[in-house]
Amino acid sequence: MAFGWIDEQTEARRRAGLVRTLRPRPAASALLDMASNDYLGLAHHPEVTEGAARAAQLWGGGATGSRLVTGTTELHGELERELAAFCGFESALVFSSGYAANLAAVTALAPHGSLIVSDAGNHASLIDGCRLARGERQVVGHADPEAVGKALAAHQGPAIVVSDTVFSVDGDQAPLAALAEACREHGAGLVVDDAHGLGVLGDGGRGAPHAAGLAGAADVVVTATLSKSLGSQGGVVLGPARVIDHLVNAARTFIFDTGLAPAAAGAALAALRLLAREPERAARARAVAAELHTRLTAAGLEAVRPDAAVVSVRAPSPEQAVRWAADCRTAGLAVGCFRPPSVPDGISRLRLTARADLSGAEIERAVRVICERRP
Ligand SMILES: Cc1ncc(COP(=O)(O)O)c(C=O)c1O
Repeated sequence: MAFGWIDEQTEARRRAGLVRTLRPRPAASALLDMASNDYLGLAHHPEVTEGAARAAQLWGGGATGSRLVTGTTELHGELERELAAFCGFESALVFSSGYAANLAAVTALAPHGSLIVSDAGNHASLIDGCRLARGERQVVGHADPEAVGKALAAHQGPAIVVSDTVFSVDGDQAPLAALAEACREHGAGLVVDDAHGLGVLGDGGRGAPHAAGLAGAADVVVTATLSKSLGSQGGVVLGPARVIDHLVNAARTFIFDTGLAPAAAGAALAALRLLAREPERAARARAVAAELHTRLTAAGLEAVRPDAAVVSVRAPSPEQAVRWAADCRTAGLAVGCFRPPSVPDGISRLRLTARADLSGAEIERAVRVICERRP
């Protein structure tokens, strides 16, 4: 029977405690949100929602076409110029998602005969970019610049090194300076995904590459999402103009995809301007993460020291992680739950978002609930 094979997989998933279900959330909820990626609490900021509404009214509900046909509005151009200026790069190109931006950057920059050196802890969208690219992929150990150097040394021809700046599971940072050094030694390009760094790390939230002194470098390309700190939707690639022009001409997820919806572009632009005006939001997110980590570890839980706004707490098993997260929810706290296959190392975790707009009382409540409900 067609699709009959799915039942076997469904059963295996159920037995392993790995079934996923959708849970539509209501517009208003009493739950304390520490599960979303709204790091700066901007998704509901009046300036951001007004930016979305104004853009939709002016430009329409959708972009109406792909970017090279009718899907590039003046608003897209404005957003790209301001993103590039804020992050310190020559040029920027926005996409309908961060996922599409990553597929674009990796596939377009790794032609046939090239090498892609990819960190084992990279996000699924970078992994899928590697799978789609014509270049040969070599996966190296997590955050291991020495292994990156060795892989580059053994290859002749164009190469890129691909890494998250802040890893989405544990919230730890990549050794960007060492990766850049290895790339320069071997004439390779560095492509980093700053999805969890933009808005949180660097001067006023300019991102991890900016903090590492790599912004604007001729051999560095940065991807990011507009859906986390900027509270909107969409993705961006930042880099030298020659790279961005190449993506416009060669990246299939740019060419064959409808342009970013005007509402999303308007919301992202409003959020970016807000962040430029209120740079303290980035530092606050980092301070909330540090406080959560200190309190949780003081209570005896195993949590990874956060480098940005992601706080990862170890759980004993996938089943216990799911139950722990569900119990927190019952107690009024929404937390993320990571388990295999999303986590390649097989370790299940609660994943907490250290939002910049959390109050001291909310942090205290969150820590109390997590500790009281621990398995
Ligand atoms: C590291 C990383 N890169 C890329 C993405 C994809 O971005 P988007 O959700 O905008 O497609 C995500 C998460 O969503 C992410 O965590």
